[in-house]
Amino acid sequence: MRIDIVTIFPEFFSVLDVSLLGKARQAGRIGLGVHDLRDYAYDRHRTVDDTPYGGGAGMVMRPEPWGDAVDSILYASEARGVTEPVIIFPSPAGELFTQAMAQEFATERQLIFGCGRYEGIDQRVVDYASTRARVRLVSMGDYVLNGGEIATMAMIEAIGRLIPGVVGNPASLVEESHSDGLLEYPSYTKPAAWRGLEVPPVLLSGNHGAIAAWRREQQLERTRRVRPDLLPPAV
Ligand code: ADE
Repeated sequence: MRIDIVTIFPEFFSVLDVSLLGKARQAGRIGLGVHDLRDYAYDRHRTVDDTPYGGGAGMVMRPEPWGDAVDSILYASEARGVTEPVIIFPSPAGELFTQAMAQEFATERQLIFGCGRYEGIDQRVVDYASTRARVRLVSMGDYVLNGGEIATMAMIEAIGRLIPGVVGNPASLVEESHSDGLLEYPSYTKPAAWRGLEVPPVLLSGNHGAIAAWRREQQLERTRRVRPDLLPPAV
């Protein structure tokens, strides 16, 4: 998969050099391009924002640098034969990011993330991008970040680990929170007793049926207690 990011803080993304995603890049499973929006600014101060039409607090990102950055990335996409990439604009006004969305995005050939700052990006950027690519506004949750960079990092990690070969043991993707719509069961390792706390005896029993049933019950109990909104409506 090819991932492009447009940002005024390219240095945020240096962490993509490390850990599993760093290895995936070295192995050629993920190709990354980080683009500094200021390289597309029109003046020598490299300005990318201005005051909002209609008044109000804060600054809005001007459309011209964004338009040129999008054009330049899409030009390179066409050269690679990617006809309709997905452009994701992280935004608290977007649809909520979910594991299902991560799974969907993990099947794409190219994702482009447009990281807004200040009070947002001029709406015409989204409108223009929608004429050239499949555009999604995506929110990390019902809270406000200073910009799209951290949201982009979280999405790239969630999506990247679903790309075949990125996580060493694919079985670990199956038995984790949200993969089956429920929260994960609690995990234990050695020693069997630690500071007076025991590992639940069923896990030491060797009875695989009983272990699977216990884990399922733990998932349901946790989900009911912490995230009842995830449970299907009672029939
Ligand atoms: N930018 C600012 N807040 C955000 C959020 N909650 N999700 C995605 N992008 C954001």
